[in-house]
Amino acid sequence: PFVLLVSFQSHDYPYDYEQLSEDERLVIRFSHVVGEDTPKGMAARKFAELVKERSNGYIEVQVFSNGTLYKDGEEMNALSRGDIQMIAPAISKLTNYVPEISVYDLPFAFHSLDEVHEFTDSEAGEILTDQLKEHNLYAIGLWDSGFKQLSNRIRPIQHYDDLKNLTMRIMPSDILAKQFTVLGAFPKEYDFNAVYYELQKKSVDGQENTLTNITSKNFYSLQDYLTISNHGYLGYFVLFNLDFWNSLDNDVKQLLTDTFLEVQQWEWEITKKLNDETLQKIENCQCIELHYLSDEDINSWEEKFNPVYDFYIRKYGDQFIKELPKFRS
Ligand code: LMR
Repeated sequence: PFVLLVSFQSHDYPYDYEQLSEDERLVIRFSHVVGEDTPKGMAARKFAELVKERSNGYIEVQVFSNGTLYKDGEEMNALSRGDIQMIAPAISKLTNYVPEISVYDLPFAFHSLDEVHEFTDSEAGEILTDQLKEHNLYAIGLWDSGFKQLSNRIRPIQHYDDLKNLTMRIMPSDILAKQFTVLGAFPKEYDFNAVYYELQKKSVDGQENTLTNITSKNFYSLQDYLTISNHGYLGYFVLFNLDFWNSLDNDVKQLLTDTFLEVQQWEWEITKKLNDETLQKIENCQCIELHYLSDEDINSWEEKFNPVYDFYIRKYGDQFIKELPKFRS
């Protein structure tokens, strides 16, 4: 009977639901694979906190970080099965489901995070996220991790030829694989949770990731050189199991959506701040040799990557590529 009351009283959440059992609350299990102090980790906690506060404890988002509940490579199946209700995988990991989504992986596709947000909000972006619904996935929005940088243990990377013959860990995405093969490097796919170990074993020479991932997982302690290349975007679609989402009352959906959008804005801000602070920290620690690409370097790298764009177009057409902000302005 209490549950009935809850649904009639839905808008004002008048009870202290924390006194109730899990069965009487609405529990949303949110699993992710990165550290607590990364943009994704912090945003997940903030989202949970605000949702709890605003629903007076009725909606409880339980956050499991660091792949402790489900690892990278497992979380997607767990979401499909309905064991968990929410995940925020890197977009590259969705390319197995919606291959066209790898437009986000194209090297130098975006020159700023604002461009990523603009594209995601565009009609092309909406078509892409809509396609996730065919896989029982509802994307409530996008969180940034930032732009990827290149680390390795063999040599400094300034010119793209410096990557020749290096073995580089990638996330599962044809476009990321192609990005390295056009440079004569060898891409190797590994789950996030395996990266530290594989770097340590030297089964890969290097990897590409955002600074907060590189430091929070201590990859930089195993690498000698880091190039600030900003060559690719890493961000997340925040996903619900679609059946679960559809089963929610409208007012719950509204509360989750409003809160999410607010947290998304906050997440975009702290990503920039955290990446700047992390770069400062790396500059100060003198624990890894840092290199920066000049504007001139970037121009030549971008040109070198043209075949990756041709490869994408051959596979998936130009419907999405031509909507990238850099080709529209
Ligand atoms: C990676 O696998 O490198 C990233 O997707 C990890 C993450 O979720 O940021």
